[in-house]
Amino acid sequence: MTDTTTTLNEAALQQKAKDHLWMHFSRQSTMENGVPIIVKGEGHHIWDSKGKQYIDGLSGLFVVAAGHGRRRLAEVAAKQAEELAFFPIWSYAHPAAIELADRLADYAPGDLNRVFFSTGGGEAVETAFKLAKYYWKLQGRPTKHKVISRSVAYHGTPQGALAITGIPAMKEMFEPITPGGFRVPNTNAYRANEMGFVGDAQGADAEAFGLWAANRIEEMILFEGPETVAAVFLEPVQNSGGCFPPPPSYFRRVREICDQYDVLLVSDEVICAFGRIGHMFAADAYGFQPDMITCAKAMTSGYSPIGATIISDRIYEPFRTGNTSFYHGYTFGGHPVSAAVALENLDIFEEEGLNENVRQNSPLFRAALERLTDLPIVGDVRGDGYFFGIELVKDKATKETFDDDESERLLRGFLSKALYDAGLYCRADDRGDPVIQLAPPLTIGPKEFDEIEGILRGVLTEAWTRL
Ligand SMILES: Cc1ncc(COP(=O)(O)O)c(C=O)c1O
Repeated sequence: MTDTTTTLNEAALQQKAKDHLWMHFSRQSTMENGVPIIVKGEGHHIWDSKGKQYIDGLSGLFVVAAGHGRRRLAEVAAKQAEELAFFPIWSYAHPAAIELADRLADYAPGDLNRVFFSTGGGEAVETAFKLAKYYWKLQGRPTKHKVISRSVAYHGTPQGALAITGIPAMKEMFEPITPGGFRVPNTNAYRANEMGFVGDAQGADAEAFGLWAANRIEEMILFEGPETVAAVFLEPVQNSGGCFPPPPSYFRRVREICDQYDVLLVSDEVICAFGRIGHMFAADAYGFQPDMITCAKAMTSGYSPIGATIISDRIYEPFRTGNTSFYHGYTFGGHPVSAAVALENLDIFEEEGLNENVRQNSPLFRAALERLTDLPIVGDVRGDGYFFGIELVKDKATKETFDDDESERLLRGFLSKALYDAGLYCRADDRGDPVIQLAPPLTIGPKEFDEIEGILRGVLTEAWTRL
């Protein structure tokens, strides 16, 4: 491609994008100045249509765990498409879906042995929500239909999943939302006192905070009546709001509460599964046993879409024999190409020890980011595995955050673009307080951590001077 062709292509693509492409979760007006067009990926790098290289600091969207440009994943997709491009798993089956279900059941903790495929995370959550309601009806407890989740948590956009999502600004325009969703405080230790916890949640009282936050779930179950509550949906590390890991004893206490009141515990691992926290499933990282796991994104490292809800023997039991079927499914659920790619991707995980790499290097990644706390704008660095959030504040001493105007100027007006211009694709997000989110491919190590820190340091230093 000559430079002229590139330029012509770029102009034509930009015009077509402006005329016809509706971007997700974005202001269409930003297209007036052109949209960044990404054309290539290799390892932990991506390139735009002008040939500029960036570090992919977000694995696309928490997806490309094994990195870009893996020929063997492309080849396995082509081979499967040639052999059997499509067949549903409605009353029939195909080898790739069977093998993948078997593999996921092997990895999943405890008695999570049954896999219901979908095409992405939102559908996996939707599936778990419907199954929870149906399960309790089959137990002769039809009023157990409500679901509890946490403030600011994101669980997807289908109307059921949206009822579980805890971000009012994403919901108000779609009211009335599917009924039955109730919210409890999240595990934001940095702002625990603002949520009503008394003590040092980031220090000596971390465990007390874990118990306090878990007990808010019990309180909500009691407020609503245990006979009306079907399930609790929690991410092992909550993404939205900027990476809230579970405090000590949190999941132990949540499990206890769920058992006491007959409420199902769903671990939404759409982001956390497949290595993000250094394990195939993050429930293992934090030592708890969910009744269902929802997962998607990194299962194929993004080389083809798929989602799954992994279900315990107990929940599956009423469906095992007799005439009961789960009237639910998706044409493309468990797609042969995606299932074949997932199997190959999981082979890469095993062969290259990606989980081990994350476990070994996570403390170094954290340390590199924590060096940024010498900057006046960096209030908190938190996360786990290869999954971190950096909270930005106006005043470190008081933890004062930015008002709407400042947030608008800082995040949308400056930071996202400045980070990108400086060669780092990541996310500046203000669904809760303003944070920069990082979730790079699981293949990187100390050299790249330093590079990421360097870029962040430059841009955050400049951001401060612009306030
Ligand atoms: C925790 C969680 N659940 C569900 C979803 C929805 O997944 P999808 O976008 O694949 O529908 C997401 C997406 O980011 C997520 O982070």
